[in-house]
Amino acid sequence: MKKCVKLMLILSLIAGSGMVWMATGVNAESPAENRTGPPDPEERPAQEVYKNIQVLKGLSKAEFDGTMTFMSLSLGVRCNYCHVQIPNSPKLNLESDDKPQKEIARDMIKMVHSLESGAIGRKGAVNCYTCHRGQSTPLSVPTIAKGAPAKPEPAATLVKADASTVTVDQILDRYVEALGGKAALERATSRMFKATRTLNGTGALAMTIYEKIPNKSLSVTTTKDNTFYAGFNGFINWSANDKGPPDKHHVQMALAKRDAEFYKPLKLKQMFEKMTLLGKEKVGDRELYVIQAIPLDPNPEKLYFDVQTGLLVRRYREYRTALGPIPSLTDYEDYREVDGIKIPFLVRYSSNSSIVLLTISEAKLNIAIEDEKFDGPPRPLPPQ
Ligand code: HEC
Ligand code: HEC
Repeated sequence: MKKCVKLMLILSLIAGSGMVWMATGVNAESPAENRTGPPDPEERPAQEVYKNIQVLKGLSKAEFDGTMTFMSLSLGVRCNYCHVQIPNSPKLNLESDDKPQKEIARDMIKMVHSLESGAIGRKGAVNCYTCHRGQSTPLSVPTIAKGAPAKPEPAATLVKADASTVTVDQILDRYVEALGGKAALERATSRMFKATRTLNGTGALAMTIYEKIPNKSLSVTTTKDNTFYAGFNGFINWSANDKGPPDKHHVQMALAKRDAEFYKPLKLKQMFEKMTLLGKEKVGDRELYVIQAIPLDPNPEKLYFDVQTGLLVRRYREYRTALGPIPSLTDYEDYREVDGIKIPFLVRYSSNSSIVLLTISEAKLNIAIEDEKFDGPPRPLPPQ
């Protein structure tokens, strides 16, 4: 599989694991945080891992990889637009400078940096998407109606919050109550879900998701001729299929921990450094409270709670890269009660390029799951 395709796939699969509950923030006080695990290769400086970095300096490997995804999304291209393909191989020679587009991209990054420090004068105000809008060649002539570049969605009307009527604490408490209460939530220490997963409305695949305290998660997706695993054991993010050795995920560790935290609904206040009620927004015929949630890591979120039911129905996240944010939206619907707690049976993850829909058919709490299951794919038995 091409590396870029894999990265996209992984980003969308991460969406499928550890998020059924409600994927959000890092738990700074998790006991797992204090345990010593193997060092995470994703956090190593990109310059140590890669061979030919001249412009994007000072990033971790995970940040560097995210920035490559951001450039690809901004131009609407795949990795091989700038990176040469190795002849007769699905692989790319990522360090090679043989493709002129790569050199142009370097110049563009330098241009963005000089705009930020010069004419525009604000960091983050301009990036590849500002001009490219999902195309390799930006338009220089305004279009006439059809074929116009997609405009950003008009901002939904946000009615400013009246702090005298409701507070962030009340909304979060009510959410816990709506789910079944603290005691009921704490009774569960593991979860298992059977689900169907579709990508852009096609290719229904069977998926089983396992989650366990404090922050372990694993999804097992079966296709016609392969089984795909995506797991997190609290330290290492990995993915694998039954045909090859496991691979590491390209995400920031803080984010992986946030998404895998088992008791998210109870720990929101610890996970986010700052939570602010922005106001109420109307989505369809529902009224939602919008809370801005700023974590310690650089990926801010907005959490949307149904004014009527108190449940979390939507989460918006910006995954920060060195050049700009990659936005994603997760919707939670069809909450049903399982052993006294409410679980969303429909989860929709929308990103710039795909919509992943998870439809849960079965949810079980407190089933026995061995810790080793989250460490890697089941190992083949040694030859007899
Ligand atoms: C728009 C052009 C462009 C696209 C698209 C792009 N890259 Fe890059 N890539 C670059 C440039 C430019 C560099 C060198 C950056 C520097 O010198 O700081 C680079 C460097 C890299 C490196 C470091 C290789 C080494 O050993 O030096 C990796 C790894 C990489 N890219 C992966 C990817 C992946 C994976 C994708 C697809 C998700 C991708 N790139 C898409 C332009 C691009
Ligand atoms: C200020 C606007 C602007 C920004 C910001 C910008 N670009 Fe461009 N880019 C252009 C224009 C205009 C062209 C086309 C030049 C031409 O027509 O020859 C272009 C061309 C390119 C090309 C060559 C496309 C081809 O013809 O093969 C690449 C690659 C590219 N940009 C990458 C990037 C990347 C990566 C970023 C972010 C780091 C970026 N650009 C940011 C305006 C911009």
